[in-house]
Amino acid sequence: MEKFIVEQSHALKGTVRVGGSKNAALPIMAACLLTKEECVLEGISHLSDVDTMLSLMEELGCRTCCEGERISVCCADICSTQPDYNKVKQIRASFLLAGALLARFGTVSIAMPGGCSIGVRPIDLHLKGFEKLGALCETGHGTVNISAEKLTGCEIYLDFPSVGATENLILASVLADGVTYIRNCATEPEISDMAVFLNRMGARIEGAGSDMLRITGVKRLHGCTHRIIPDRIEAGTIMLAAAAAGGKIRLENVRCDHLTALIHKMREMGASVTEGENYLLMEKRGRVNNTAIKTMPYPGFPTDMQAQLMALMTIGKGTGIINETVFENRFMHAAELNRMGADIKVEGRCAIVRGVRRLTGTSVKATDLRAGAALIISALAAEGKTEIGEIEYVDRGYYHLEDKLAGIGARIERRSDED
Ligand code: EPZ
Repeated sequence: MEKFIVEQSHALKGTVRVGGSKNAALPIMAACLLTKEECVLEGISHLSDVDTMLSLMEELGCRTCCEGERISVCCADICSTQPDYNKVKQIRASFLLAGALLARFGTVSIAMPGGCSIGVRPIDLHLKGFEKLGALCETGHGTVNISAEKLTGCEIYLDFPSVGATENLILASVLADGVTYIRNCATEPEISDMAVFLNRMGARIEGAGSDMLRITGVKRLHGCTHRIIPDRIEAGTIMLAAAAAGGKIRLENVRCDHLTALIHKMREMGASVTEGENYLLMEKRGRVNNTAIKTMPYPGFPTDMQAQLMALMTIGKGTGIINETVFENRFMHAAELNRMGADIKVEGRCAIVRGVRRLTGTSVKATDLRAGAALIISALAAEGKTEIGEIEYVDRGYYHLEDKLAGIGARIERRSDED
């Protein structure tokens, strides 16, 4: 087990290159199962969720070859349609293997992904969509058995624009017989990137990025090469770290159009943000002005940036209000931030953050991957030293985040728990 030791850091400056998007890479990796031909993915960040997904796919018979940020995947010889039970429970995105295996083989037996600290995270919308396509879904003993003689295009309406359900139903319908419409679907950039990848494989997906997808089933898909979009959540996390410590940074390999909600909020709070073609400049000195945010499905303010923004708000001027509408229990980081001297009151899905002049370092622990990032942000601003435990959560969502932050002057290092 490891921990981060973080000391108060001032005036971060320099350039950071943002890695490839975790939440685009995971569904695109699952999509490789839809063809026997080789797929080459570039711009992959080897954070632990990606590596777990790779090992799950290798156990199913996929051949993979990793060279830095480039991986090739060949799923010609699949030997099983039963992904490893315990690994599926480790990372929720592995449930996306269900849609791909169902489309290719007509059958899959997979662990129910289960909840985590941020919520129950049901899969009812996934299963309802599979059934509409003609599959039979049976759950029992923590496993879902899904089978279909044939998948037939149909009209699906999602009660909530679920990212995972949208992705799973795209995977299940690209080889179906006929046309599938998915209404009230998620519009996140990661969905669009997945659609670009699948269309490059020969799929016929229209409407990606809008709230209705039209998917015309095709007979087969072929291999292709694809570069994963930059990780907008990593980019936003680094921006907020620099705003908390103060400084002037440049981010390379960033899609500013994927960060609109955060950029506008940062400007509202007093940061200066310049948007470039594939770079972003951000400068902030002194305390931010606290404001109100409400997390929403894209293009609203992303729930995956909520914890990190809360960390910044703890040292801002005035009172900030956070309304978390996407997950029912995504304020676990508030208690840890309060241990550092923050003044946060949680009332159901709402958090009231009264800005304080200073935080003080202490020992805290990550409760989920974005909460871990939030603790790093607050520790950079806190007086003294902070020890952050359970950082394997952070490693699930970020690749060498401490090196990227240290590269712009943050005082952070990784240590073994025994140190
Ligand atoms: C994806 O999770 C992301 N994960 C999450 O990022 C992100 O927070 C989330 O989308 C929302 O943007 C990946 O892409 C791997 P959802 P997902 O299905 O697909 C409810 C991170 O930090 N729901 O859009 O699981 C659900 O309970 C992670 O990188 C149902 O009710 O999210 C939740 O309240 C954390 N029934 C809401 O929808 C369902 O069948 C959003 O969930 C499915 C979802």
